[in-house]
Amino acid sequence: MRLTYRLSSALISAVAVVSLAFAFFQTRADTLGLRRDLQNHAQVLAESLVRSAEPLVARHANRELQRLVDRFKDREQIAGISVYDAGGNPLAITSGLARRVEQNPVLLPEPGAEVAPVDKFVKLASGTIHMVTLPLHADDDMVIGDLSLFHDAAYIDLQAAAMWRRAFTGVFIQTILIVAVTLLTLRWGVGRPLRRMADWLQDLRMGSGSTPPDMPNQGEFEPLTREVRRLASSLTEARAAAANEARLRDSGESSWTPERLRVFVQTRLGGSRLFAVSNREPYEHSHRAGGIECSVPASGLVTAMEPILRACDGTWVAQATGDADRDTVDEYDRVRVPPDHPQYSLRRVWLTEEEERGFYFGFANEGLWPLCHIAHTRPLFRVEDWEYYQTVNRKFAEALLEEMEFEESPVVLVQDYHFALLPRLIKDARPDARVAIFWHIPWPNAEAFGICPWQAELLDGLLGADLIGFHLQAHCNNFLDTVDRALESRIEREHFAVNRNGHSSLVRPFPISVAGILEEPAAPPLELPHVERVRLLDKLGVRASFLGIGVDRVDYTKGIPERFRAIERFFEKYPAYRREFTFVQIGSPSRTQIRRYQELMEEVVQEAERINRRFQTSDWKPIVFLNRHHSHKEILQYYRTADFCLVTSLHDGMNLVAKEFVASRDDLHGVLILSRFAGAAHELGDALPVNPYDTEQIADSIRHALEMRPEERRMRMQRMRATVREHNVYRWAGKLIEELCETRPAKVPAAPYLVPTLMTRSAS
Ligand code: G6P
Repeated sequence: MRLTYRLSSALISAVAVVSLAFAFFQTRADTLGLRRDLQNHAQVLAESLVRSAEPLVARHANRELQRLVDRFKDREQIAGISVYDAGGNPLAITSGLARRVEQNPVLLPEPGAEVAPVDKFVKLASGTIHMVTLPLHADDDMVIGDLSLFHDAAYIDLQAAAMWRRAFTGVFIQTILIVAVTLLTLRWGVGRPLRRMADWLQDLRMGSGSTPPDMPNQGEFEPLTREVRRLASSLTEARAAAANEARLRDSGESSWTPERLRVFVQTRLGGSRLFAVSNREPYEHSHRAGGIECSVPASGLVTAMEPILRACDGTWVAQATGDADRDTVDEYDRVRVPPDHPQYSLRRVWLTEEEERGFYFGFANEGLWPLCHIAHTRPLFRVEDWEYYQTVNRKFAEALLEEMEFEESPVVLVQDYHFALLPRLIKDARPDARVAIFWHIPWPNAEAFGICPWQAELLDGLLGADLIGFHLQAHCNNFLDTVDRALESRIEREHFAVNRNGHSSLVRPFPISVAGILEEPAAPPLELPHVERVRLLDKLGVRASFLGIGVDRVDYTKGIPERFRAIERFFEKYPAYRREFTFVQIGSPSRTQIRRYQELMEEVVQEAERINRRFQTSDWKPIVFLNRHHSHKEILQYYRTADFCLVTSLHDGMNLVAKEFVASRDDLHGVLILSRFAGAAHELGDALPVNPYDTEQIADSIRHALEMRPEERRMRMQRMRATVREHNVYRWAGKLIEELCETRPAKVPAAPYLVPTLMTRSAS
C-alpha cells in the first residue's frame, strides 16, 4: 500500500511537471503568435493610412484628415488613430481617443523632426493597447508629422487566460489518466504475477508443493522467474533428499546421496580438495547462430563423474574441445560449471591438432581402446602416437600440479586409459597427494595386453597411483597377471596390491553407476505409457504399438550392426510384429576422424536401410536410426516409453546405458536386454542376458521382452532398481575415496611442486 502511494505521488509529480512545462511553452507560443499577427496587421494598416494622410497634412487639409481617421474608428479592435504635426500639435484624432491619450501620456508620440517608427504594447489600467507610430513625410522627404494607430489588445490577454485554463485542465486530466493507467498496468502486469509467485512460494514453504503458476517469462521478469524456479526446484530436491535420508535412517538402510558423499568426502579428506582429470570435458561451449551454446558430451565417464564433482565442489581438469571454450574461461583457463548453477571448477587444457591426433585418436583410441576391448578390431601402435601420448600426459600433469599448488594433501581421481602415465608424474611431483586412477574400460588378459610395445611404461605409470580401480574383479585379476608378467614387482595377491620400488598400489573393483534413484513412486501406473510412445513415434513419422530403444556412441564395441541383424531376424521369425514394433537406435557419432569409426557409421546406416527396405510400409519401418547427439532429456523420453532397451556390447567395461534405463523406469515397466559381455551384467541379474554374437538368441529375447507378463516385468525392474539405487555413483565415489584415504601417502610435499623435467619436456 505504502509502495503504491509513494509510486503514485512520484508519478503525479513527474507527469504534472512535464505536462505543465509543455503547456507553458505551448501557451506562450500561441500568445506570441497572436501578438505577432496583430503587429503585422497594424503595420500594414498604418502604412496605408500614412500614404493617405501625407498629402492631406502637407495641404493642411485638417477636416479631410479628421474624416479619414473617423472612417477607421469603428473597424474591428481599432482603439483610435491620431495625427500630429512635427511640432507635436494634434491635427486629427478619433473621438474618444483624445481623453485616453490625455490620461495616458505614454500614448503620445515623441514630437520632433526625426520621428522614429514605434511598435509597442502598452499596459493600461483599462487593458493592453497596441500602438504603431509612423512618421509622415512631405514630398521633399521632410518629416511633417506622425500618425499613430492604436489597437485594443485586451482580447489577446483574454485568449491567453482561456488557453491557460484549458492547459491546466488538460494537464490535470492527463496526469490522472497516465497515473491511473500506469498503476493499473503495474497492478495487473506486475502485482498479480508477483502475488501469484509469492503464494506459490508460500505453498512450497508450507510443503504443499503445488505446481508452479504461470509466471511472466519475458523481459525484466525473465531472470527473476528463472531464479525463483531454480530456488524452488533446489528446495524441492533438498526436501526429497532429506525425506529420503530420514526414511533410510528410519529403516536402518544407508544409501549414498550427494549430501552423504559431500559430508563423507569432507570428513575423509579433512579439508583436502578433490581433483579429477579426464580427457573428455563435462561441458563444451560452441559458437551457434544464436550465440554461445553449452552442451554435455555423450560419455559414460562424464555421466558418472559429474554428480561427484557437483557434490564436492572440486576441480575437474579436462581437454578443451568446444570452439567457444576459449571465450568462456578466465585468465587461468577456468570456468565454473554447470553454467546455470555453478557448483565446481573446470580447468581446460588446450591440445594442438597434432597432439590430439597422436594422443587421442592415435594412441588412446586406435591403440589402447581396441587393445582392451575384445571386439576383434586390431590395435594400431605407432611410435609417434606414443610420443604424443607421453607429451599430453605431461601437459595434463603440469595443469593439474598448477591447480593443486596451494592445496595440502590433495586427492586426485585420474580417469581412464588416456592418462596411464599421469599417476606416476603426479606422485613424483607431489608425494603428499593421494592418487587414484580409475580405468573405465576392461583390462584384457595378460597375453592380450602383452602385444602393446609400451606395456611396461604404461604399467609403471599406473603403478604411481595409490589405488587403481576397475569395474570388475576379473579386470583386477587380469591387471595383476599383466604386471606379474611384465614388470619387476612384488604382487601381494592376498591384499590385491602391487609393491614396486617401495610404493604400494592397491588394485580394487569399483563398479561404476549412475546418480541415485531417490524413491519409488507410491503408486506406479499399471499400464505402459502407450500414448506417449505413440506420440513420440508419430514425431518420427512411424506408426507402431511397440517400441525398443538402443542408445550408444557409434562404436564397434557396442555391437550395433549385430543388434540390427538380430532385429531383422526377429521380424523374420515373428512376422506378426511387422507394422507393430519399431526399434529406435540413438547413435551419437564418435571419434569420427578414425577410419574404423567412419566405416562403422556407414555400415550401421546401410544395415538400417537394408533392413528397412526389406520390411517397411508407407507409415512404418522396423528401425529408426537417429545418428546425432541427443541430450539426456531427449533420451529420457525414449527410455521412459520403450517396451525394452537393448544393450548388445561385444565388450564393455560397465555400460551405463543399462543402468540409466533402469534408473529412468520409475513406472517399473520396461525390460532390459543386456549383453553378457558388459560389466553391468554382473550386477543386473534381472535383465535378459544375451550373447551379442548370437542373432537367434537376441531375436528370441526381443519377443520374450515384448510378451513378458506384467508382474514378471515389474518384479525384474523392481529388483534391478533396488540394485542401482543402492549401488549408485555416490557410493562408487565414496568407496573409491574411502579406499584411497586409507592409503598412507608421504606427509611432506616435494618442493618445488612442479617437476623441472615436466616443464622442459612438454610440447606447448
Ligand atoms: C568410454 C570411455 C570414456 C569416454 C567415453 C566416450 O566410456 O571409457 O573415457 O569418455 O567412452 O568416448 P570419447 O572418446 O568420446 O571421450
